[in-house]
Amino acid sequence: MGHADPLLEVDARQNYWMPFSPNKEFKQEPRMFVRAEGVWLYKPNGDQVIDASSGLFCVAAGHCRPEIAKAVYEQLTTLDYSMPFTRAQPKAFELAQRITNFTPAGMNRVFFVGSGSESVDTAMKMALAFHRIRGQGHRQLFVSRERAYHGVNMGGVALSGMVNNRRSFGVGLPGVHFMRHTALPENKFVRGQPETGADLADDLARICTMVGGDNIAAVFVEPTAGSFGCLPPPKCYLEKLRAICDQHGILLVFDEVITGWGRMGAPFGAQAFGVTPDLLTMAKAITNGAQPMGAVAARQEIYDTITEAGPAQGIEFFHGYTYSAHPAACAAGLAMMDIFEREDLIGRAAAMSPYFLDAVYSLRDLPCVVDIRGVGMMAAVELSTAGKPPGARGHEAQKALFDANLNLKSTGDSLILAPPFIAEKHHIDQIVGTLRKVLAAY
Ligand SMILES: Cc1ncc(COP(=O)(O)O)c(C=O)c1O
Repeated sequence: MGHADPLLEVDARQNYWMPFSPNKEFKQEPRMFVRAEGVWLYKPNGDQVIDASSGLFCVAAGHCRPEIAKAVYEQLTTLDYSMPFTRAQPKAFELAQRITNFTPAGMNRVFFVGSGSESVDTAMKMALAFHRIRGQGHRQLFVSRERAYHGVNMGGVALSGMVNNRRSFGVGLPGVHFMRHTALPENKFVRGQPETGADLADDLARICTMVGGDNIAAVFVEPTAGSFGCLPPPKCYLEKLRAICDQHGILLVFDEVITGWGRMGAPFGAQAFGVTPDLLTMAKAITNGAQPMGAVAARQEIYDTITEAGPAQGIEFFHGYTYSAHPAACAAGLAMMDIFEREDLIGRAAAMSPYFLDAVYSLRDLPCVVDIRGVGMMAAVELSTAGKPPGARGHEAQKALFDANLNLKSTGDSLILAPPFIAEKHHIDQIVGTLRKVLAAY
């Protein structure tokens, strides 16, 4: 489509240090996109690739929405930047208010950050500050879960339960205790929330007994673990965590960076699973991925406690980022709120979910498929390792699928599917048809 391939020369590939990528391999055999529209990404040669993971779970409304582009352009040519400390611009207030139309009742104070990782570290600091102000500064510990992904800043790495994300950086990470993950062997191929596994929440009670529940600041969980490969919560599991947190005065934090904004078929996992946390992190689809942005929604009591206990004049919470509430990100967010409302995008995700899950679960007869997990508009197809090192087949499959014009994210040997909510049935058919064709050769 008139785009020169920027990687024709191997030397031109060397300066960019790619994140979470096998740099050496990629620079030998790059897999690039140069354009996007709707559910489609385009390779430099013009081939159309279906985006089965909404980028990295961001592009809920489909790529290159003109309303968002226009809003960002107008913002950048009106007020490109203004400092978010001791100054503000109107769209920050407007977006915070619009976001609270979607968050659970009472979670109505919104702190803006630049990414999901920043939202997690911000929530950790809110929890510590909240307890300290109430005379409970001894609450310094956190609880998280095996197989969790909470971003890559140091707080989030400490909370993450994926070894590769920790192994090189682990020394000196703050005190975190880990509950077991919720992927039980008897729940293979279960669709939605498994019937068994709620008792895994008793791990939290055991940790409280061991370290003292009154020393724990907060419990962090993804309502459905996303990056590891879609682990929906067993029935009654989140409810049990909520009850144990309440019993010990621990804050419950839902990391909804992936599960937020409709992915679970409701505005947030909190509503989808009927459990309200104290803090809720979000990012990605707030702006449809068009501008970097994250946020933490807090229960009003947490905001009130921190601000009221602060000095009558002066800063109450010593935290924030240069790009908190960036005007262009706020403009993109507001345009996305319009799309969510006008197109009932979340209702559309909920309505498409049964068709999507039927299609994905139809792959279970493939010999290489050892598990399928799915809920809402997210699913993971797990491949057997076939005697290879863990992750090798997932990586190979993800490349073969790109070559067959399907884009998705793999983690280990799980292929993660999370199509944009504008996807029609025939798009789902194409995604699953391509998977079947490619995986049949495995
Ligand atoms: C649950 C969760 N938390 C945090 C993050 C980190 O977000 P970011 O990559 O925007 O920093 C992610 C990213 O996928 C995530 O899935």
